[in-house]
Amino acid sequence: MLRLLLICGVSLTQALDNGLALTPPMGWLTWQRYRCLTDCTTYPDECISEKLIKRTADMLVDEGYLEAGYDYIGIDDCWMEKNRSASGKLVPDRERFPSGMKMLGKYVHSKGLKFGIYQDYGTKTCAGYPGVMGHEQTDVDTLVSWGVDYIKLDGCYSKPEEMKTGYPDFGRMLNKTGRPVLYSCSWPAYLEPDSILPNYTVIAENCNLWRNWDDIEDSWQSLLGIMNWFGDNQERLAPFAGPGHWNDPDMLLVGNYGLSLDQARVQMAVWAVLAAPLLISADLARMRPEFKEILLNRDIIAVNQDPLGKQGLRVYNDSKHHRQIWTRKLSDNSYAVAFVSTRVDGVPYAVSFSHGDMKIPAQNYRVQDLYNEEEDRKLGADETFTTRINPTGVKFFKFIPVGQSEEDFKDPEEHTLKNVNFNTDNDLDKTVVVV
Ligand code: GLA
Repeated sequence: MLRLLLICGVSLTQALDNGLALTPPMGWLTWQRYRCLTDCTTYPDECISEKLIKRTADMLVDEGYLEAGYDYIGIDDCWMEKNRSASGKLVPDRERFPSGMKMLGKYVHSKGLKFGIYQDYGTKTCAGYPGVMGHEQTDVDTLVSWGVDYIKLDGCYSKPEEMKTGYPDFGRMLNKTGRPVLYSCSWPAYLEPDSILPNYTVIAENCNLWRNWDDIEDSWQSLLGIMNWFGDNQERLAPFAGPGHWNDPDMLLVGNYGLSLDQARVQMAVWAVLAAPLLISADLARMRPEFKEILLNRDIIAVNQDPLGKQGLRVYNDSKHHRQIWTRKLSDNSYAVAFVSTRVDGVPYAVSFSHGDMKIPAQNYRVQDLYNEEEDRKLGADETFTTRINPTGVKFFKFIPVGQSEEDFKDPEEHTLKNVNFNTDNDLDKTVVVV
């Protein structure tokens, strides 16, 4: 029984029973790139509008993003009229969404995508549009009647005490409609910055994902700040991630203005290790091919989407030498290991690490470079692993256990696990039961 408990892990909790997000959600969301641009006269291609959503939906499909797994398209804040209708309903902006949300939902569904929308649990959204407070049931009914599949419920203009009942109640109302709606709660993001400890057990029972911390901005500094916060707080966050419920470090910046190619690779690698939702927020029409390649990297997406759903950890953090290692255990007993350099100057430096530094069992491995720059190589049980990392860059590898013989190293597809003894006395192997 104990064994069963350990295998099932957090799924034994009364998790939100909508069958969704068994792996971290993937998709596209307006906020990071398009913010609250509402002036369609000056910025016809960038304002929050049905045109932007339809155009992006087309590109998600035509450019291969949907095929790679990015299947949600979400409108963040600033889609509404400033006032509710006479009967108290939410009204989409009449100029920018002339066909209405039901039609837009139909369009999105016709492309094989799922439809996401933003609301806020408080009296107003963060940008000052009507919030759901006092109108919860009406809004749930309205959003569901539009065919919404994903709701990001923000937490501006509400108090911690109100959120405590408000978020679970709203989730229950969604469940009662019978429509499976992915439920993203920004609840802890309104507690953590004020040093109020969120009850993640309850949050994981009620939400499919939750923003834990501040908004990401389009810069290396912001990305690093978020990585460091998640690393510093991992012991109390990571146990709550698992199939159906995920920590959310915020949107991907990849393809925007603020990150270099190396830095964008860092975010994709660390988000894969963190089992983070992969929400692109960039102009797909202006996506440079090398950034698109990062977003569509199948091997890295596979790490992010690994069915075990175990959030990885920052297992090594040498701030003096600006080096971090992030390791995630995968369902096939392999390990995804990201070596990050946070140096902002210099040249690529060679670094060497032991199995212990990487927190992987002392075994033989075939090592696969997930960014495909290096040939596969082998690592013996007693060897150290050396790699070169660019400044503010990453090397991201999969360590696949193999047996002792040369053949095991040579034949990637048919490597055998027969001689491998797993060291279960390893932090990354422990599954924490949350009850
Ligand atoms: C908050 C959220 C952001 C975005 C904006 C919209 O700041 O954290 O992700 O939704 O509100 O106003």
